[in-house]
Amino acid sequence: MRFVIKGKRPLHGRVKVHGAKNAVLPIIAASILCEGDSVITQVPHLEDVHTAVEVMSRLGMDARLRGSTLILRPAGLSSYEAPYDLVGRMRASFLVTGPLVARLGRARISLPGGCAIGSRPIDLHLKGLEALGATVRQGHGFVEVSADRLRGSRVYLDYPSVGATEHLMMTAALAEGTTIIENAAEEPEIVDLANYLSGAGASIHGAGTKIIRVEGVPSLRGAHHQVIPDRIEAATYMVAAALTGGRVEVEGVVPDHLKAVTAKMREMGISVFEDENSVLVDATRRRPQAVNVKTMPYPGFPTDMQAPFMVLLAVSEGMSVVTETVFENRFIHVGELRRMGVEVQVDGRAAMVHGQSQLQGAIVAATDLRGGAALVLAGLAAIGTTEVRGVEHVDRGYDGFDVNLRKLGANIRRVRLVAAEESEASGLGLGPTASGS
Ligand code: UD1
Repeated sequence: MRFVIKGKRPLHGRVKVHGAKNAVLPIIAASILCEGDSVITQVPHLEDVHTAVEVMSRLGMDARLRGSTLILRPAGLSSYEAPYDLVGRMRASFLVTGPLVARLGRARISLPGGCAIGSRPIDLHLKGLEALGATVRQGHGFVEVSADRLRGSRVYLDYPSVGATEHLMMTAALAEGTTIIENAAEEPEIVDLANYLSGAGASIHGAGTKIIRVEGVPSLRGAHHQVIPDRIEAATYMVAAALTGGRVEVEGVVPDHLKAVTAKMREMGISVFEDENSVLVDATRRRPQAVNVKTMPYPGFPTDMQAPFMVLLAVSEGMSVVTETVFENRFIHVGELRRMGVEVQVDGRAAMVHGQSQLQGAIVAATDLRGGAALVLAGLAAIGTTEVRGVEHVDRGYDGFDVNLRKLGANIRRVRLVAAEESEASGLGLGPTASGS
């Protein structure tokens, strides 16, 4: 599948964001912990969500997505094994490990492989589960975790990993006694997971701060929960407005969650107006100015916005430095962006971007989710036609990306490749790879 984009059309209008992918995935995994049913609303239609639903079904649960409502019935939970084809497709599947151990006493999970944006180890997850009393064995590409009973403990995370914080917080909800997670990640998606778990009967304090305290309970009942808005989807539309010199209101957001991106845009001379549930980006008056960006754990600048933001810097006035501190090897989009006229030099974890007055349309290939979104954005800003291949990557994280962009005035079409081109594309490594971002 590919997008064909004719660029240089300023975006105007309103766009509404969906529920957050990175909130709903851990919530789906956490539903395993419950004895009763959960009903999750504002669920985005994304490849990753469909994969998570498939994981639940393979574990024996009844998981159904109707519109944007997901119903999770854990009564049939029976399998403790998550196979390679699913974990390989999406790293977040690994989050089922702790909940399976808590409910069934064991889990056998295919080791998530390396992926497009760095090696992404799981050591913090495993050390945390061991601290909660689990035994961990690895071999033949699988990790096996077991425990007759989990006990609360004090866990210090060497790095505030989002996934490890979520994994340990949800597992500790059913452990005996108190768990304290120190140097926890503070992302809004962690708070959302804590709210879901609390609604199901868990006792969690401090989610959204560096220290989370979980008092284990004997059982959880399930909950009704509405997923928070997707701040990365929202920020992507903000950038799309800015780099086309447009004016777009992004609705259904929590402006507080977007603070790091909003601040950077304002520093660039772009007008951003915040309302209770929306942000309005106006870049109609002047060309944005260069600015330095450093990715950090929340509330710092999100690593998931690094690639899309680089495209905005590429059309701004002056030289910007982008420093990636969260993931190694997250500049893989740079090669394709260069083919569109983006001038950028990479030195380790830093990239120097020289602002251009003009990008050029080209045939490019997405190899990961956010890098793929960056290529689409570059196409919107470029003169001439851009063809972005490997759109499957983009579909993992953006519900109706092309539809929304078209509503804002972009000239973008989704085109199916014919069979021969499809196999050529996968031969070039353009097929899906796990990247969980
Ligand atoms: C989540 C998000 C992803 C986002 C990332 C950072 C989901 C589904 N994905 O990914 O979109 O880019 O947070 O905001 O929510 N690390 C270790 N050992 C571990 C775990 C992580 O060294 O056991 C390292 C990673 O390699 C990486 C850093 O910690 O360098 C951050 O990773 P982490 O916060 O865990 O990201 P994810 O939860 O995988």
